[in-house]
Amino acid sequence: MVIKTEEELQGIKKVSEAVALTLGKMKAYTAIGMSTKEIDEYGRQLLEALGARSAPFETYGFPGYSCISVNKEFAHGVPSDNVNLKNGDIINIDVSAELGGFWSDNGCSFVIGEDIQGVQHLIDTSKEILLDAISQISGGVRISDIGKLIETKAKKAGYTVIRDLGGHGVGRSLHEEPNGIMNYYDRYDKFRRFRKDSIVAIETFISTGSTFIETASDGWAFVGNKGGFVAQHEHTILITSNKPIILTAANGI
Ligand code: CO
Ligand code: CO
Repeated sequence: MVIKTEEELQGIKKVSEAVALTLGKMKAYTAIGMSTKEIDEYGRQLLEALGARSAPFETYGFPGYSCISVNKEFAHGVPSDNVNLKNGDIINIDVSAELGGFWSDNGCSFVIGEDIQGVQHLIDTSKEILLDAISQISGGVRISDIGKLIETKAKKAGYTVIRDLGGHGVGRSLHEEPNGIMNYYDRYDKFRRFRKDSIVAIETFISTGSTFIETASDGWAFVGNKGGFVAQHEHTILITSNKPIILTAANGI
């Protein structure tokens, strides 16, 4: 959405803070031995206390309140009583919600306990790339140039990017124009530019080798087409004529 009034600005700030605080608290709550369902239930309570409604639950019939993905699954993971976290697991929690007619989205990957699987560098790289990409966005910047930055930095660090998932406009719904803020350089995407005063969710999908998604057998979770691990970090931002304002900064990413 494009922000035109002070009321809209306050509305998007409020929901962004709600999803950011929820994600930050869920991350801090997560521990070895817990099921992903327990973490989701905690997130549900937090969102409810803030007056927010889970976006995936409300809008696309997702069987959970947040997407919680573990190890090979890296997005759209369904919270489950049967997934119990072990030392060294990589987990991604993605929280999106609606509050007062405004929508916001954020997510992060992290390690449970010790880095047994050697994924901390992947996670740190994903987070660094996200913050770097965001710092380069302002009104008028070409969308494909941000894809180029993400892809170049991922390659330099020895990783691939997932090519069929990306960031998106957000605000009056969870996914709106501009859709397809990709993690790679799309040379055919010549004309689309970021717009001042608009709200977008920027998200990384950095991988140890996969380049496309495959849907897991439960019909929801995404895994990489060539296996390995994927890290995702996501912020909702307000684009200005200078540095963007990170509306979900309270998540601590
Ligand atoms: Co998200
Ligand atoms: Co998103």
